[in-house]
Formats: sequence, C-alpha cells, structure tokens
Amino acid sequence: IGSHPSVKELAKEALSKVPERYVRPDIDPPISSNTHSLPQIPVIDLTKLFLPQELKAPELKNLHLACKEWGFFQVINHGINIEVVEDVKRGAEELFNLSMEEKKKLWKKEGDMEGFGQMIAKPKEDWVDGFYILTLPSYSRNPHLFPNLPLPFRENLEVYCKEMRDLAISLYGVIGEALDIGPKEIKESLGEAGQAIKINYYPPCPQPENVFGLEPHTDASALTILLQGNEVEGLQLKKDGTWIPVHPLPNAFMVFIGDVLEVVTNGIYRSIEHRAVVNSVKERFSIATFSGPDWNGNIGPAPSLITPQTPPLFKTIGVADFYKGYLSPQHRAKSFINNVL
Ligand code: SIN
Ligand code: FE2
Repeated sequence: IGSHPSVKELAKEALSKVPERYVRPDIDPPISSNTHSLPQIPVIDLTKLFLPQELKAPELKNLHLACKEWGFFQVINHGINIEVVEDVKRGAEELFNLSMEEKKKLWKKEGDMEGFGQMIAKPKEDWVDGFYILTLPSYSRNPHLFPNLPLPFRENLEVYCKEMRDLAISLYGVIGEALDIGPKEIKESLGEAGQAIKINYYPPCPQPENVFGLEPHTDASALTILLQGNEVEGLQLKKDGTWIPVHPLPNAFMVFIGDVLEVVTNGIYRSIEHRAVVNSVKERFSIATFSGPDWNGNIGPAPSLITPQTPPLFKTIGVADFYKGYLSPQHRAKSFINNVL
C-alpha cells in the first residue's frame, strides 16, 4: 500500500535482516539495569490530589517536580474503570488482527494522517504499524473513518476517548494548582480540547537493536496519556542524556508533557523526549491519547505565568501552524519548539 506497507505483514516473512529503510546506525543503548542508582520515575496518586488543601500539598509538590524535572509520570488511582480499559485494549488488538483486506479499507490515504500506516513520511521508517484517528470533539472526526470502525471497538473507543478527555481535564486542573495559578487557566488556554488517539503495534523484529519502534521524539500534544497494551515493555525516556526504560505499573497510565504544555507553561514544564524499542520475540502494542488545544485556536504562554521576571519564551501562534511546524521534515526532537520564539 503505497510507500507505507504493513510492518506486520513484513514481519511474517521470517526475514533474517530488516530492509535498509528501517536500519538506524548507532542507537544509544539504555542505562544498564545494574547501575546502582537507577533514577526513580515519578508516580502520582490522583486521589491524593483531590484531598483537602492542607493534605494535598505533598502530592502537588511531587506532581510539580515530575512535570518540571521529567515531563513524565505514571498516574495511579485515576478512577477509570478497568473494564473500559480492558475493552479498548482488546478492541485495539482485534483491529490489528483484521485481515489485510479489511485493513485496507481503513488505510491512510496519500496526504492524510488518519487511518492505518505511518503517520508521517520519514527518511527512515519505524518498526511499527500505527492507527491514528481524530476522536474529539466529534465534529473533527473523519466521516469515512470513525463510523467504519468495527464493532465493538467503535463503541469501546467512544467510551474510552471520553474517559481520557475527563482525565486530561482533571490533570490540567491539578497541574494548574501545582503551578500555583489555580485549576482553570491551563484548560482555558487550550480552549475546546482536541483529541486524537494512536494505536502503535510493534511486530517482533529480526534485528531489534538496529531499528526503532518509534524514533526519539517529543509529543506535539498538551498531554499524552499512554496505555500499555500488553505485557511487553518497550518505552524509554531520555533523562539527563540517558535512556531509561519504563516499567508500566498495573492499572496505571503513563502521562507525558507535550510541546503544547511546554509553551502554555512558558517552559516551566518540559516536554520529554522518548522512544519505543522492539524485541525479536513478542509483539507489543500501546494506545496513546493525545490531548491538545482546540484544533482551530491559538497557543501561547498562559497570561498569569508572564511577569517582568519571566517574559514569554514562546510566541502565540495558530494551532494549525504549530502542528505544521511540528510535522515539517526540519523538525527533529525539540528543535522546532525551541525555535518558536
Ligand atoms: C509514543 O511515543 O506515543 C508511544 C510509545 C510506546 O509505544 O510506548
Ligand atoms: Fe510519543
């Protein structure tokens, strides 16, 4: 199918080597797990952030440090029903188990980003099949895609995307409190929240140390809420120049600060560089929910974070232009956002 064939189909061919277009020279290895002081990846207990003011201060402090020092945390006790999560995982797995014939009906068209395939054309390809879809607000949905999703996945996704919207809104509230600007301003700066979901399916790979599942990047979202789809790990975070593997906690979500929130917080919180690696034995999948600004709005630093001592580090620009810059071939990791001013 055009320039983006299915990696899953390719992996079925029992190749001894991957095609050249997937091969990456010099992948930095992650930190070795027998290093004495492995950094502790932050875990945030959402229920503690809804305690009375005097009792929530320690967890707000943890949240502030997680967003500032890492741009990443795992959130536990988030209140989302386990059935909703299990249903969407099962549905996502079934979606990737559709026949190629069925998948072709949902394949990304030239110039589109939505559907099966790789979202962005890149000089080197990642060892992943993606499925990307705009989910909210519902008027942003592609009329040829969402309604054609197989059942029960379509219904599961409908429920899940609304749970993810509500969780993102709760997180914007507590992030505002952690920044000491109150619970409303972050959400207001983003307008009517746009949301997209991407399912990543990583087939086993004959040369896992020579490819990326997903190359190093920061997310363009405000927040990304990532769900580990099965028991196979593969996410790594770049912290102080070192790649650190994440061990997803059971019933947790992984939360990333994206470039949009870095802009909105005027650089106080930083989007984190991350990558996905693959293995030679087991397939892996993950479900990323990108919560962003109003697709038709503007983004810039939140007004109360601008002071004479903290002038704006970023220009206010249209969301469409922001994403265009993010998707441009010149954009690599954080180079785009650092040039917005
Ligand atoms: C992502 O970068 O959104 C996905 C990483 C993963 O599959 O763990
Ligand atoms: Fe990502």
